[in-house]
Amino acid sequence: MGSILVGHTDSLFGNVPIQGAKNSALPILAATILCTGTCIVNNCPDLSDVNSTVDILKALGAKVKKEKNCITVDSSNINSYIVPQEMMTKLRSSILFLGSVVSRMGKAELYLPGGCKLGPRPIDWHLKALSDMGLEISLQNDMLKCETYGKLKGTQILLPLPSVGATENIILAAVLARGTTIIKNAAREPEICDLCNFLSSCGARIFGAGSSTIEIIGVDELYGTEHNVIPDRIVAATFMSATAITTGKVTLLNVVPKHLKSISKVIKKSGCMISTTQDTLTIESSGEIKSVGKVITDPYPGFPTDAQALIMAMCTIAKGNSEFVENIFENRYKHVEELLKLGADINVVGKKAIVNGVESLYGNHLKAKDLRGAAALIVASLAAKGETIIEGSEHLDRGYENFELHFKNIGANIKRI
Ligand code: UD1
Repeated sequence: MGSILVGHTDSLFGNVPIQGAKNSALPILAATILCTGTCIVNNCPDLSDVNSTVDILKALGAKVKKEKNCITVDSSNINSYIVPQEMMTKLRSSILFLGSVVSRMGKAELYLPGGCKLGPRPIDWHLKALSDMGLEISLQNDMLKCETYGKLKGTQILLPLPSVGATENIILAAVLARGTTIIKNAAREPEICDLCNFLSSCGARIFGAGSSTIEIIGVDELYGTEHNVIPDRIVAATFMSATAITTGKVTLLNVVPKHLKSISKVIKKSGCMISTTQDTLTIESSGEIKSVGKVITDPYPGFPTDAQALIMAMCTIAKGNSEFVENIFENRYKHVEELLKLGADINVVGKKAIVNGVESLYGNHLKAKDLRGAAALIVASLAAKGETIIEGSEHLDRGYENFELHFKNIGANIKRI
């Protein structure tokens, strides 16, 4: 367990290259085992979650070469259908190997996944959908034993909510299934489109990615390809909220501004100026920020749950009250307790949190409890008077590449201790 030391930072200035998206890279890596040829995945962020996924690929028999941000996967000799429990529990997206392993091997033996503790994170919709496609599943003591007895069959699946993970698992299972699968109320996140673009370039037939209805026509074989992972919109949101809470002008390089629309809209309400080009976003802040009104987390294109803690951190010193409604997860306010230790004024009632902006925050000793919560504590600590120690830097390493380095380069007082 490491800690991060953050000192008060008046302003941030400069450029930050934004890493590839973790939430794209992980499903794409899980998808590589569906291909008979070699896949080259570029712009892969160098993260502990990516390393854990590489370990799973190797356990299944893939040959994997990782060079900085390029991962090459040769899946021609996949020979196992078992993902060991210690690998499954390291991250949430390990559950995507359910769809890809059954699709490739006709059976799978894996365990319930790990990941950030954000309240209950069931996988019942994943299991129901795959069982509707013909998969036989038994769950005993956290172990999932699955067998297809022949190829999976395409069918129509209506998701109760546009679940990102369930949409991805169904796509992974459907690309090599017999016949056509139609997902209704599918997730529309950019990371879903990235996965579908990757699979399409391997020979998959997928239509409607990015809309609520995705149609997948099963094919017999997928081939190798080369793919560039899209930029990480939540990492971009992290630097945006940090610039807003200090003063300064920061340009994010390699971003897709349209993926950041809902986040930019909220940050603009705080009084910051945002300008974009095709692949950059510049944010300018005077440091005097206003309340942002009501922020409701929703599936894409709504405001992302992953940016809720970051924007809340920003609002702790905004003039006036801001209100948050967390619609995706039941227990995603663990950062609030720590923000209070900095002197923030936040009241949580059920899924609502009211933030009354305070004049100043004061450094303290904090404990990060999840990935985005950890980043939010750092954002708030930049504005706090004095020094703050944030324990639990391993949470950050799951999602941010060179976190302190990028912040240091734009003038933040930050170091790992
Ligand atoms: C979710 C977020 C995603 C974020 C990730 C990590 C949404 C819609 N999804 O993805 O943006 O990057 O967390 O923070 O914002 N659910 C069930 N049964 C299931 C699957 C999901 O009840 O089988 C519920 C979940 O409990 C949750 C909601 O559906 O309340 C959305 O879950 P889902 O999108 O699947 O979660 P993740 O894939 O983890």
